Amino acid sequence: ETAPDRGVWRYAASLPFDEGISLPEGDTPLHEVPRLRESIGVNRLRIKHEGMNPTGAFKDRGMTVGVRVAKELGVDRLACASTGNTSAALAAYGARGGMETLVLLPKGKVAAGKIAQASLHNARILEVDGNFDSCLDIVQDLAARGEAYLLNSLNPFRLEGQKTIGFEILETFYEDHGKYPDRIVLPVGNAGNTAALYKAFRELVQAGSLDPSDVPKLTGVQAEGAAPMVEAIQNGADEVKRWEHVETRATAIRIGNPVNAPKALPGVRNTGGTAISVTDDEITQAQRDLAAEGVGVEPASAASVAGLRKLVSEGIVSTDEDVVCLTTGHLLKDPDAAFAAGDDPEPVPNDTDAVLEHLHS
Ligand code: F0G
Repeated sequence: ETAPDRGVWRYAASLPFDEGISLPEGDTPLHEVPRLRESIGVNRLRIKHEGMNPTGAFKDRGMTVGVRVAKELGVDRLACASTGNTSAALAAYGARGGMETLVLLPKGKVAAGKIAQASLHNARILEVDGNFDSCLDIVQDLAARGEAYLLNSLNPFRLEGQKTIGFEILETFYEDHGKYPDRIVLPVGNAGNTAALYKAFRELVQAGSLDPSDVPKLTGVQAEGAAPMVEAIQNGADEVKRWEHVETRATAIRIGNPVNAPKALPGVRNTGGTAISVTDDEITQAQRDLAAEGVGVEPASAASVAGLRKLVSEGIVSTDEDVVCLTTGHLLKDPDAAFAAGDDPEPVPNDTDAVLEHLHS
């Protein structure tokens, strides 16, 4: 199925093909969250919920383009390293395109929903005794030896598709408010989205469609236990130093070597943005805050909201700003984290009076 007029492919003019292997993807909601806006204290707050894509994460926007390119090249086998979401999307889009997929996952560090997806969509799953960064090292070696076509965000065609997050945000925000958002806050792992959004904005500026002064400030958020990009931004460094040991409940962004940093660092700096890290508890609180507005996200996604709250409370983001937070993956991706963050079910007897008594006690 191709879907040239919907979602990602509506922006075919900025993509390498007119249509792709599609499920289809994109056209995700830009939620209003009035209570959350009030409690954080900014002028406007909208949530771009990328968890509403076909496989439940933004990765689909990149895969619809990347897998199409792979098909065009006639490669036999697609491969990626993943903290989970990339593997789920690659498995689904590979299946859609009738291609073989191989995914390398860090053993014990991938959320249940994501492995379930990769498994059911028939990827060959290798569990590596190491973290995500080691998985990516290995899969890059495999690709270099001609064993597979690499579909991590090092693949530039992935980022082409992910540019459309930026296009959709600007379009919808302008339609609703007659102006562009001042800032976009997003979780950072490999910094692929940061690089992709920056490229999207530069292309619009070069085309004369966006005034340079209207480019939103790109603001990255990492978990405290995996924050090499934040370290580089805060130290004014030109390069990101790889962290060998990383840990966070937000397993999607449990990454020590953000491979797109050379493209993403200038994006944060040149747009006047910044980067900040948040604790796992702050992430869980933000996950609950979003859930209380009906928006269900996985932990890594909630990092954007946790980061915004911190930036406002520290006076780094001003209260008159219009902000969009990106939430990258769906609540159901990580059911264990959702159970841990939420309230426990209460056991009751099989009897109405007993249920009423329980409710009133
Ligand atoms: N949020 C979620 C839910 C993710 O799955 C990822 C990355 C990110 C944020 C970070 O995005 O790399 O563009 O900075 N997940 C990759 C994966 C690593 O394998 O699924 P980024």
